[in-house]
Amino acid sequence: MAPSDLPILVTCGLPYANGPCHIGHLRTYVPADIYVRGLKKLGKDPLFICGSDSHGTPIVVNAEERGTTPTELVALYHQHFDDVFGRMEVEFDYFGNTDDPSNHRRTRSLVEALMEEGYVYPQEIQLAYCPSCDRSLPDRYVEGICPYCGSPARGDECDQGCGRHLEPGEIAEPLCKVCGSKAGYRTQKHYFFQLSAFSDFLVDFLQELGGTTNARNYALEWVKQELKDWCITRNLDWGVKFPGHDELVVYVWVDAPIGYISFTEEWALRADGDFERYWRNPSRIVHFIGGDIVYHHCIFWPAMLKGAGYTLPSAVVASGMLKIDNKTFSKSRGYVVWVIDDYLDKGLHPDLLRYYLASYTSHTKELNFSWKIFAEKVNGELVGALGNFVNRAVTFTAKNFDRSVPAGDLDPEVTAKIEAAIAEAKAALEEYEFKKFADGAMALADFGNVYFQSHEPWKLAKSDRVRCGAVLRNCLQIAKALAILFSPVMPEKMESAWRQLGLSGTAAWAQFDDALVPMDAGRKLGVPEHIFEKIDDSMVSDLEEIFRDRVAALEAKKGKKGEEKMTAIKFEDFQRLDIRTAVVREAEPIKGSEKLLRLIVEIGSEERQIVAGIAKTHRPEDLVGRNIVVLANLEPAKLFGVESRGMLLAADLEGSAVLLVPETKTPPGTKIR
Ligand code: 2FM
Ligand code: ZN
Repeated sequence: MAPSDLPILVTCGLPYANGPCHIGHLRTYVPADIYVRGLKKLGKDPLFICGSDSHGTPIVVNAEERGTTPTELVALYHQHFDDVFGRMEVEFDYFGNTDDPSNHRRTRSLVEALMEEGYVYPQEIQLAYCPSCDRSLPDRYVEGICPYCGSPARGDECDQGCGRHLEPGEIAEPLCKVCGSKAGYRTQKHYFFQLSAFSDFLVDFLQELGGTTNARNYALEWVKQELKDWCITRNLDWGVKFPGHDELVVYVWVDAPIGYISFTEEWALRADGDFERYWRNPSRIVHFIGGDIVYHHCIFWPAMLKGAGYTLPSAVVASGMLKIDNKTFSKSRGYVVWVIDDYLDKGLHPDLLRYYLASYTSHTKELNFSWKIFAEKVNGELVGALGNFVNRAVTFTAKNFDRSVPAGDLDPEVTAKIEAAIAEAKAALEEYEFKKFADGAMALADFGNVYFQSHEPWKLAKSDRVRCGAVLRNCLQIAKALAILFSPVMPEKMESAWRQLGLSGTAAWAQFDDALVPMDAGRKLGVPEHIFEKIDDSMVSDLEEIFRDRVAALEAKKGKKGEEKMTAIKFEDFQRLDIRTAVVREAEPIKGSEKLLRLIVEIGSEERQIVAGIAKTHRPEDLVGRNIVVLANLEPAKLFGVESRGMLLAADLEGSAVLLVPETKTPPGTKIR
């Protein structure tokens, strides 16, 4: 098979099902979706796969902190990501979950294949262990100091310093993340993947690897240094059991990328496809990932695939980092834009953000998001250039030519510009340069505006109708090309342009080369309408205010936390608080509020109504029957017109509520002292 005929599989790094989607996530998913839509415009038939990354210690720790189970937490965020992708028009052929049985099966079978080939061996190692919690401390259960650079680090990664992956036992001065105690060490038997055996293979593989140079070059540097064997088991219940050892699971970075294979299998089952076509035979596998997980995709993953006899990736495309208002992205400091709350639920169209993400900068460079720049790009480029041109072409034709495409020849200059724009789009896809893709199309819109302006059809309409028709026909052809070229970036908006141009089929189905197929003279146009709307200054101020308030609230909270530590209260003061256990009997949302739930709770012999700000983190139906803790003698207050007599107690974990619950089921009304 010629390389260009190989089956194509495109994947995106799997989001952890551990928190809501922010625009940092979209920096990988949107360009990948543009790439897939672009390939379809080249007549290819790519398969597009992703899913939730559901294992690993952060999910277990988070579930524990929230008083829920990993299964429930993962189900919640799996659904969330699936919804966000739907709303952002990121159209995966299959969106799986690494906790699905098929991924457990595929992971075990791949690990067994590595074992059969002799690439997995046991070894006793010293592992962090917490004497007060009496448990092993895998990965994120432990914090300490990076042995390489001395920065504070997490158990499996030096996240604040040199960025290295840390092997179990490597971290210095370990502290238990659960209770804060100084951890000790214990000898335990674990299993290692013989990564060192793949050094030579990886050097050759990486030299041939396609995608972005940042991925390839970083990885080559690492491989040239010594590759350490990789501990692939953990003492944890949550995860994929290591074959033959029910007390161990595989490290999350083993079963997560294997999700790419098992999700392809799941897709194949449903679509009557063949997963081996992609994973056991020559194919073109393209991984889109964030720049922080290059090591895993360019070193661990190809070595595992090679060792177990699967098809190797052809390209790894790594996106650059994200900044918010020129500040380093940080959820805990509020430098974040949540896709649902801050963007989609504010009524903003997904295509505007897709355009921003594609066109702001080169895919591998740092992208800065600010509402001001967002509004400038929307108003200047989308409304001012693209929308304005299409609208002028369509409305002018509608008014002067009875909504029909006028007759006439295509101007050679116009044909040449469209040809150049198509060539630019094709080259941009090959280079994974989405800015080039968007800019190339926008340059055609700019040309269209100049063409319209300089040919003055409003004058020709009076002096030379035939010439006027020919000019408009050229403008409509440019508009058609724009709808095709921009369709991968702004799918829905370009369908609107397509309908206005009265074209048959959809912009999504049209191929790049169709942009040169002349529109039939006499064809009726659709009803003209503005494709984009301006974002006014007051909207920008509102959006900025939400963002600024969040940053300020988090800063204040951090300050307050310090103060709270300092102020001591008397025991009598504490005794004045009537804190009791309770049971939730009813729970329902409060109309008009995104955050509040109305609860009826039983406290001893009494039933009370209380209002709790937990709607974002808890579903009403999951609360009924739960044993909770309430402050019973808080002054009554009205929230959204609903009376609240008492307060549910919860920990505030970066703005999300984690319920306080009794250790064992406790009769409602029991006093807390
Ligand atoms: O870094 C992350 O967000 C991981 N959840 C990505 C996993 S990608 C793949 F290998 F599964
Ligand atoms: Zn370090």
